[in-house]
Amino acid sequence: MAKILNVRGRRVWDSRGRATVEAEVIVGRGATPLASGRAIAPAGASTGSGEAKNIDVRKAVEHVNGVMRKALLTARVEDQAAIDRKLIELDGTRDKSRLGANAIVAVSLACAHAAAAAAKKPLWRYLAGNKPVALPVPQIQIYGGGAHARGSVDLQDYMLVCIGAGSFSEALEWTAEVYRAAGARLAKRNRLAGVADEGGWWPAFKSNEEGLAELVGAISDAGFEPGRDCAIALDVAATQLLRGGRYHLSLENRSLSAEQMQAMLLRWLEAYPIVSIEDPFAENDVAAMKAFTKAAGDKVQIVGDDYFVTSEQKLRAAGGACNTVLLKPNQVGTLSETLACWNASRELGYRAIVSARSGETEDVSIVHLAVGWGVPQLKVGSFSRSERMAKWNEGLRIEEALGGKQLIYPARRLFGRRKS
Ligand code: PGA
Ligand code: ZN
Repeated sequence: MAKILNVRGRRVWDSRGRATVEAEVIVGRGATPLASGRAIAPAGASTGSGEAKNIDVRKAVEHVNGVMRKALLTARVEDQAAIDRKLIELDGTRDKSRLGANAIVAVSLACAHAAAAAAKKPLWRYLAGNKPVALPVPQIQIYGGGAHARGSVDLQDYMLVCIGAGSFSEALEWTAEVYRAAGARLAKRNRLAGVADEGGWWPAFKSNEEGLAELVGAISDAGFEPGRDCAIALDVAATQLLRGGRYHLSLENRSLSAEQMQAMLLRWLEAYPIVSIEDPFAENDVAAMKAFTKAAGDKVQIVGDDYFVTSEQKLRAAGGACNTVLLKPNQVGTLSETLACWNASRELGYRAIVSARSGETEDVSIVHLAVGWGVPQLKVGSFSRSERMAKWNEGLRIEEALGGKQLIYPARRLFGRRKS
């Protein structure tokens, strides 16, 4: 048993050059420091209105060094539930806006790291206990759009899922090939405008559908079979598109009713090897989300991000909307609440994906959460920029520690082998 001896907050910088909160927790037996843990809060750009709220970073750091430190001194660091309860009570708001979600998530995660360090275990092993573990299946962004690329395309993420890969490391090998092929295709046609916030190519497409056709082309160019080796996952982030009851596709200069949007997505599901669609409708468009899930939920993952905001309560009230939940610790604020959402998803028969934010850092906690909790999918952004690669590389280290290729890798179980 280790007790919290000190909690420290500091202002650091994220992948968009914006300030964020780092927390450090020092623990010991008696008064002697024994171990420490550190974590940094990420930040979203296309946030759901139900998310826990970040506050001014200087203020958040003051809270970490002041009231939060005071409340946690001498607490048992292994008792994550009690720590998180204390933070929630101390904050006292529904949306964590007093202490700040950025302060709370950094401290909550730093406590978990410190507990694992005191137990002399990597965080994934500390969380998993004696349970068998596996590496998650990555969803990796190839093109970035929406709020992460000033609307270059309306859809936010065109992602690759290596459904035929036999291991995490093989999925990364294949992704590297497809990512490069996709960039080369854009460059050749003079359509490459740089990289977006999560490291995916910033494309100059003429339509949203062009991105689907291009991604299929890139998969083939890289020598893989679309729909058999590699498939597509989309994040529509549709909350960003809804204005005045219609979904606006600015790139195509048109707007769609929910019914038209559904018809377009269903057509895409027929025409392209898509295995997952996130936020296909806006966070408050409950009827459309339910109708779409009814129409396509047996064929494809329908993922609630803004729609569920990692809230166990919202997931329990889903009433047939979506079949998969995105787990973002900073969306709800604490590790315990994120875990509660994951536990609820299993109980309710929903799939789950651990996810990074568009504003990230070298912090690799989410990889440990996915492995340690046994969440079988992980979304981190693209295959460039070190805040993304740090996470993929951490996954490789864990895979190696687990004995590499003999591990069970859930891609084929999750997605089967689909026909092209
Ligand atoms: P955000 O986007 O981090 O900007 O909210 C990520 C996502 O939509 O999954
Ligand atoms: Zn999303």
